[in-house]
Amino acid sequence: MGEVTIRPFRPEDGETLSALVVRCLREVNSRDYPAELIDRMCAHFTPDRFRELGSERRIYVAQRDGRVVGTVSRDGNKVYTMFVDPDAHGGGIGRRLMRHIEDLARAEGHEFMETGASITGHGFYRRIGYRDVRVSDTEFGINHILRRPLRR
Ligand SMILES: CC(C)(COP(=O)(O)OP(=O)(O)OC[C@H]1O[C@@H](n2cnc3c(N)ncnc32)[C@H](O)[C@@H]1OP(=O)(O)O)[C@@H](O)C(=O)NCCC(=O)NCCS
Repeated sequence: MGEVTIRPFRPEDGETLSALVVRCLREVNSRDYPAELIDRMCAHFTPDRFRELGSERRIYVAQRDGRVVGTVSRDGNKVYTMFVDPDAHGGGIGRRLMRHIEDLARAEGHEFMETGASITGHGFYRRIGYRDVRVSDTEFGINHILRRPLRR
């Protein structure tokens, strides 16, 4: 398997990222959430929604062998929409994407990174150095807020 590279989102990625997120939601997150909520999330993450998000936040795309295998986005030190192709789970792509945006946030002077984790993503963030801060409620159910210090 080739090297993983990370690049900024381009509007033409909308379709690919929408399909990747829908696959994650249906194949992985559906183990933790009711079908009604999964349907609502799938309907939310359309190609156009990604293009809109691309103008509000910085979206990053991970590629391997010319294929999109993951995405994450950030607004300053806040993390959003972290998804890795289910076929590539456990291969270090999620950690790689997080380290990429943490480095960028650190270079901007942020003291810590903050993420809102689904039930599904909670163990991942804890594994890569994030610690629980609080629990909040969102339109898509319970969210674990976690932080990781960005020491310089
Ligand atoms: C959560 C997700 C982004 C992780 O991406 P990934 O590329 O599979 O993660 P990595 O391979 O970089 O994992 C890093 C470490 O966390 C561990 N890990 C990954 N997912 C985990 C989970 N759900 N629970 C506990 N540990 C997890 C890995 O085993 C690895 O451990 P290691 O240090 O022993 O090697 C991915 O599983 C995914 O897309 N899930 C579905 C969508 C989702 O829930 N996104 C998060 C929304 S908050």
